[in-house]
Amino acid sequence: MKLGVIKERRPAEKRVAASPDTVKKLIDLGFDVIIETGAGDGASISDAAFAAAGASIAKDLKGAVSDADVIFSVQGLEGKDAKLAKKGTLQLANLNPFLDSDRLKPYADAGLMAVAMEFVPRITRAQSMDVLSSQSNLAGYKAVIDAAATFGRAFPMMMTAAGTIAPARVMVMGAGVAGLQAIATAKRLGAIVSATDVRAAAKEQVESLGGKFVMVEDEETENAETSGGYAKEMSDAYKAKQAALIAETLAKQDIAITTALIPGRPAPVLITEEMVKSMKPGSVIVDLAVENGGNCELAKAGEIVEAHGVTIVGHQNVPSRLAADASALYARNLMHFITPHVKDGKLEIDFEDEVVSESLVTKDGAIVHPRLTGGENNA
Ligand code: NAI
Repeated sequence: MKLGVIKERRPAEKRVAASPDTVKKLIDLGFDVIIETGAGDGASISDAAFAAAGASIAKDLKGAVSDADVIFSVQGLEGKDAKLAKKGTLQLANLNPFLDSDRLKPYADAGLMAVAMEFVPRITRAQSMDVLSSQSNLAGYKAVIDAAATFGRAFPMMMTAAGTIAPARVMVMGAGVAGLQAIATAKRLGAIVSATDVRAAAKEQVESLGGKFVMVEDEETENAETSGGYAKEMSDAYKAKQAALIAETLAKQDIAITTALIPGRPAPVLITEEMVKSMKPGSVIVDLAVENGGNCELAKAGEIVEAHGVTIVGHQNVPSRLAADASALYARNLMHFITPHVKDGKLEIDFEDEVVSESLVTKDGAIVHPRLTGGENNA
């Protein structure tokens, strides 16, 4: 049983899908682990550290994947490289299948079994494999740190002989995994924090972290959550009421951290240009939804924009900005995914397991996932 770990090819991707800790555990399961040279450089893990954990180091991509039964990656093989792997190889990666659907065909053509880790169901048993949570949690933290680094004032209240500095006011939009960590981080830095969401269930969580929950509650919010715990797209009437509430709240804030997402749809626009204009000069918006279209209509992916006296931060791939921690957690997510499918040192993938059936996107030469082969999310 061979398991290859690749060096990521995408720009600004510093993470790696293994750590010395997971390499040891994979070897205990019975894998020979082969790491492409330099795979851990961006996450401060040297080839020597991987080798000390028991991995062998391949001098190039081909050496890491051509013999592998399983490939671990953060963003997956590039389409042109898919043929380097054997037919039937299982690849675990973040594939962003809704936004980046073109990449699946080369995997299908090469006969790979590709798993989109984002599709792993959020059931209790699969929490340890939940890459969305492990990475969003770090992104929520980093968003606040980025905001604090950009903001020309302090976060905590400070009483000094020269006078008192008022605490910063932070508003978090979208109180899922990233948003809750942003609230906790901003509180730890001493800010006054409020948050909003369309899921009423978020109220208790926000309040337990010391944030003030602000939301439009009506009959629609009783149904705003899917059975999987995700938000639904709201009606135009609800959006108008929500916009009025956000406009009123935002004008009093120094910082907005936006994290609102709707699976398979563009991110909802929550901050319009008019609202940006109403913010105090020197305010900062960090838009974590920028890669999905953005929650702020002025945010630009990969850029820091100044508009109407407000700085709008649109970093892409925020987890990669904390590559060492993000890699360590991501690597464990993948290790936990594969572990139940190894029996007595042999790979025996249980295709009946809902974790596999809900996340497998290509198999036997075809794109097989129902969310990608039909319906409104047809890729
Ligand atoms: P997400 O990344 O899809 O969305 C982020 C947040 O934005 C969500 O809280 C969502 O309700 C909110 N949002 C969407 N549209 C909005 C709008 N128009 N205005 C304001 N907010 C809006 O969500 P994430 O962080 O992936 O969490 C989704 C759910 O899954 C949550 O209920 C979370 O508690 C749950 N969850 C369950 C886990 C488990 O049991 N294994 C693990 C992690 C999350």
